[in-house]
Amino acid sequence: MDIQAHRKDEHVFIAEKLYQSENRNRLDEVRLLFKNIPEISKNEISLTTTIMGYQVDSPFFINAITGGSSQTDKLNFQLAQVANQCHVPFVTGSVSVALKDPANADGFKQLHQLTQDTLLFTNLGAGNDLATAKQALELTQADGLQIHLNVAQELVMPEGDRIFYWKDQLQNISDHLEKPLMVKGVGQGLTPETVKMLAEMGIQNVDLAGKGGTNFVAIENERRHDADYSFLNDIGLSLAECLLGAQPLRDQISITASGGIRNALEIVKSLVLGADSVGISGMFLHTLIKNGPEGLVDLITTLQSQIKDLMVMLGCRTIPELHQVRYLLSPALISDQKQLNE
Ligand code: FNR
Repeated sequence: MDIQAHRKDEHVFIAEKLYQSENRNRLDEVRLLFKNIPEISKNEISLTTTIMGYQVDSPFFINAITGGSSQTDKLNFQLAQVANQCHVPFVTGSVSVALKDPANADGFKQLHQLTQDTLLFTNLGAGNDLATAKQALELTQADGLQIHLNVAQELVMPEGDRIFYWKDQLQNISDHLEKPLMVKGVGQGLTPETVKMLAEMGIQNVDLAGKGGTNFVAIENERRHDADYSFLNDIGLSLAECLLGAQPLRDQISITASGGIRNALEIVKSLVLGADSVGISGMFLHTLIKNGPEGLVDLITTLQSQIKDLMVMLGCRTIPELHQVRYLLSPALISDQKQLNE
């Protein structure tokens, strides 16, 4: 197995080792104002929203995780089958491992067949050019492309990139790719300045990928033994901070929330704070490994029902109505919001 494919196995292994379902999340500092007399019935509620410009019936999706080695391809097949059964969009992990070595491509090529009843998206790192972005879509026959911004992760990796002139390539991809594009983080969060810059570049979708869940700097630190980069583990913005920072831009760019989502309440809070959709990786990977595909189907259907329960309590029939819900923030979050939006 080549080094890149082996890295994919290590990422899954370490992400699972570091996964903590009890993590505190700054969304805990957001309290929603529920209705005591909501005047609504649960069966009136629609979970329809848009993800990368597509209309979908689930406000959350299986975010980028893996692929490229035999072990991780197997996980991807199971994730894709669950996504298809539950009609939840599915994102492959970075496909660059397959573009660099076609021996790693077979698993990625099979995902399209397994996701005929849902949307399939694929994923690449920033710094790739338009031709590579097109190859990624061609190889996977995906409905759209995510590009991840991972400066800190690259710096922690001894073999990682050290040159970060990314903007021109991103602009070119955004201007010429025939399928929808989403730009995302990998667990350090996107700052308001970044979201603003991406919106001004004409990019229509961002995934904030805030700190608080899977943290790729921490994962790479576990792989690195010659130097201690753990001082970078805590750098970044939590999902709650990213959402509050991006809120003023939500008319200009569609926002996906991810980073540490653990339950239906956190999904709903993210939607209330301005997200159109929510991406989940760590919790779904953990559930798949622990409880198998049936366990993951159970979790997804439970989450869908529990989101509706919360919408009943909020008196909201649709996802866009959630954006009007009033909420309270802790004094610390109010202060952070003020500074972020200065
Ligand atoms: C990821 N994530 C990720 N993101 C990306 O853009 N490309 C990738 O290849 C990967 N690979 C990957 C592997 C594993 C094992 C995990 C758990 C995650 C990051 C992911 O999509 C997401 O942005 C963050 O993980 C934050 O969400 P969670 O995991 O806290 O829900």
